[in-house]
Amino acid sequence: MSEQALPQPVLQGTGRVAYFVVLGIAPGAAAEEGVRAFLGQAQALARSLNNRYGERRISLVVGIGSDAWQRLFPGAARPAQLHPFKALHGARHKAPSTPGDVLLHIRAEAQDVCHELLSHVMQALGDAVQPIDEVHGFRYFDARAALGFVDGTENPQGAEAEDAAFIGEEDATFAGGSYVIVQKYLHDMAAWNALSTEEQEKVIGRTKHDDIELPEGVQPTNSHVALNIIADEDGKELAIVRGNLPFARPSRGEYGTYFIAYARDPGITEQMMRNMFIGRPEGNYDRMLDYSRPVTGTLFFVPSAPMLEALAEGELPQGDSDDDGSLHIGSLKGQ
Ligand code: HEM
Repeated sequence: MSEQALPQPVLQGTGRVAYFVVLGIAPGAAAEEGVRAFLGQAQALARSLNNRYGERRISLVVGIGSDAWQRLFPGAARPAQLHPFKALHGARHKAPSTPGDVLLHIRAEAQDVCHELLSHVMQALGDAVQPIDEVHGFRYFDARAALGFVDGTENPQGAEAEDAAFIGEEDATFAGGSYVIVQKYLHDMAAWNALSTEEQEKVIGRTKHDDIELPEGVQPTNSHVALNIIADEDGKELAIVRGNLPFARPSRGEYGTYFIAYARDPGITEQMMRNMFIGRPEGNYDRMLDYSRPVTGTLFFVPSAPMLEALAEGELPQGDSDDDGSLHIGSLKGQ
């Protein structure tokens, strides 16, 4: 990967704590200018904390929604796959599409620095943005989801993770970028806890205590894992990079999973979601959805680190993506 395509810290693991923040851009040109200015500062704010508290491994990823791209950078080229999240309507379960202009994905090994970084970010953004959603996720024991199963095991690692997450030659202008889809799920814990462990294992497709995949023939075709193993026409398995964490407010009976997945092609994540909500084949939907309901759904583009700074400078990506892999930025200032 060329230096210009250095990604944002997308492949950072889940962190022990993560803040998932979705913002809307306030009306008016001044708000747009405020957001553009922030994009240039974002990584510096994270660096400042990392320099002082490196062992807490703080990171910030910034994503930009489809409508926001148009508003912030009129006249610029668009990432080829940037579009609003597509709602899904299965026979039993639905996935709504909800608004969002800017995503902040803050991860760290401790909550104090997540709080500190988000405070600095919000100060920088000022009244250029309006809050839409803010969720504080936490690592639960040995990386368990609120449902009690280990989450993240089959995530790709190393070079495979890079290959799954980052845009390459297929859209060279945006190389080093990524697409991220988020969904906030709420769980019906009473119904879930009423199932025996064996029944729960059939819903997920892995064992609960040891986190081992159920063997073929035992793993139901409507289990979560079975429906999320997908391949292209050559039989190559297609991967996404998930960074889910649970969140909860037990006094209100709220137990959830914040689903967040990075992919070089959001069509892969969308195919997995069609399998879950519509079913493979149709009607054979993901049984985990009988206990888990998404209340948000939004898609963002995550520019590479240098593109984030270039965008703030008014240097906008130009032209088609089918060329030689350089950044292709040109200034539209004064035009
Ligand atoms: C309530 C939300 C969700 C929960 C609690 C959840 C939980 C889990 C768990 C426990 C596993 C097994 C361990 C692992 O390999 O990570 C898993 C696997 C997986 N999930 Fe989810 N998940 C959720 C939503 C989603 C969604 C929306 C997608 C796709 C769009 C997805 C894609 C996958 C994939 C690709 C795997 C790995 C399958 C494999 O290769 O074995 N998950 N999930």
